[in-house]
Amino acid sequence: IVNSTVGDAKKRQMDGFTLEQNDKTPLTSYFGTKIAETDIALRAGARGPTVLEDFHNREKISHFDHERIPERVVHARGAGAFGEFKLHTPLTGLTTAKILTDTSKTTPAYVRFSTVGGSRGSADSVRDPRGFAARFYTDEGNWDLVGNNIPVFFIQDAIKFPDLIHAVKPEPHNEIPQAQTAHDNAWDFMGLHPQATHMQQWVMSDRAIPRSYRHMQGFGVHTFRLLDAEGKSTFVKYHWTPHLGTHSLVWDEALKLAGQDPDFHRRDLWDAIEAGAYPKWELGVQLVKEEDEHKFDFDLLDSTKIIPEDLVPVKNIGTLTLNRNPVDYFAEVEQVAFCTQHIVPGMDFTSDPLLAGRNFSYQDTQISRLGINFGDIPVNRPVCPFMTNQRDGQNTMFSKTNRTAYHPNRFDALPTTEPAKGGFRSYHETVSGIKDRLHGPKFNEFVSQAQLFYNSMSEPEKKNIISAYQFELSKCYETQVQQTALNRINLIDHDLALAVAESLKDVTVPDAVPNHGKKSAFLSQITGKTQTF
Ligand code: HEM
Repeated sequence: IVNSTVGDAKKRQMDGFTLEQNDKTPLTSYFGTKIAETDIALRAGARGPTVLEDFHNREKISHFDHERIPERVVHARGAGAFGEFKLHTPLTGLTTAKILTDTSKTTPAYVRFSTVGGSRGSADSVRDPRGFAARFYTDEGNWDLVGNNIPVFFIQDAIKFPDLIHAVKPEPHNEIPQAQTAHDNAWDFMGLHPQATHMQQWVMSDRAIPRSYRHMQGFGVHTFRLLDAEGKSTFVKYHWTPHLGTHSLVWDEALKLAGQDPDFHRRDLWDAIEAGAYPKWELGVQLVKEEDEHKFDFDLLDSTKIIPEDLVPVKNIGTLTLNRNPVDYFAEVEQVAFCTQHIVPGMDFTSDPLLAGRNFSYQDTQISRLGINFGDIPVNRPVCPFMTNQRDGQNTMFSKTNRTAYHPNRFDALPTTEPAKGGFRSYHETVSGIKDRLHGPKFNEFVSQAQLFYNSMSEPEKKNIISAYQFELSKCYETQVQQTALNRINLIDHDLALAVAESLKDVTVPDAVPNHGKKSAFLSQITGKTQTF
């Protein structure tokens, strides 16, 4: 068994020999040789050729040549901070996960906020969803809640993710525009995908131009499971609510900031933490009993739907505080590797097809972004002991002390015939069905929650949505794309379509759609009491 927490064998060999390093340490090579001259390369004569022998020159340039790693394929632009999570309301009896049941514990935490579409150097204040990726370094392993500031998603199935991202990223022929949904491809995609209708409304709202990371809600989006000691499951959706309230910029501010201070959100987070104004969020849960799974008009496995809070209220259970800025942006923010598959005993996934794809995609991309041993990078390591038979690979950082890397083996301390007590167990879900490319029947309704969202807006918020549609659609060159988008908007609200069309040439607003009125289409909803937790 590998025990990579035992420590670094080389370090132990060097104990007693290691010299102190401090901010007065002079410039050395990577391997400790003091460097006398770093400004002029070694040459054969003042005007002669530069010589290969100059190892410092070669090391300096060569390391620089390899400074860049691939940026994240999405969410490339971000800022991170460390902090802690304290549970105040335990979910006793619903899960065995200590982080959700033990109020005596303070759990170290880390959050990376991000935009989605732009590259690493893009502006912070663009219209875009924001990533809200939280890591809890629990005693039982890392739990990553990799969410957004919008509670729903554009698509229902992860197989559509490459299509979605290829559509909203800059267009491939001219790499324009950066970090905007204001182009033909983005609206072509949304027009052709009714499933994007709900999220499209959120993205056209002020939610997509937050005042700062400190003023954003966060959502786990998917329905997850909690598991009790007997393996009984409860569905759960996670919410983050900022103590400072949820606030947005107005579009004019967002545009100016993108030019005047493209780092506005990154700077705000950094400055607040440096000033001791530590941002805080409440972690909330919406809980649904296993037997109530089918009592909604929508499918709990459909990530384009929320569970309305008047059906299932959010119950706050703990507080996250961010109180320490990273020391090294690259090491601790660029190299952090979140993954939805990082969960701890007492939790499990549902069969949400979007979640299934994410569970594959994050680790897969991190292998090419960071290399197979990205788990060895300090920001990614758990704080609890860990033992694994994984070995070798590029950039193995920690010497292991084992003589075996297979299981079972002659040194194994654990009984091999039964699972270790408290180990991770998947929910014993009964599954049956025909193997085919299928979705549940409730995956086919796309408009009612977009209407629910729009109808919950105040008049100024509605005006901002109209202006956002007008701005974004006016950037499209193709009338057909604008028309398809308008047809979709008309399904949400006829007056909204009329208002948006005022600023577009050559489009016609279709007739109002019967039965798609201004009222929410949630009729049958939930029967019986669910909130008995
Ligand atoms: C990155 C959220 C859907 C693939 C991220 C990040 C967040 C996020 C917050 C940034 C993580 C960080 O800060 O390092 C979400 C949410 C989704 C969603 C809330 C839907 C509910 C998907 C899907 C896929 C996907 C469906 C793929 C099938 C990726 C990849 C990265 C990423 C490849 C880059 C990860 C890295 O390089 O470390 N996502 N995402 N995401 N997401 Fe998603």
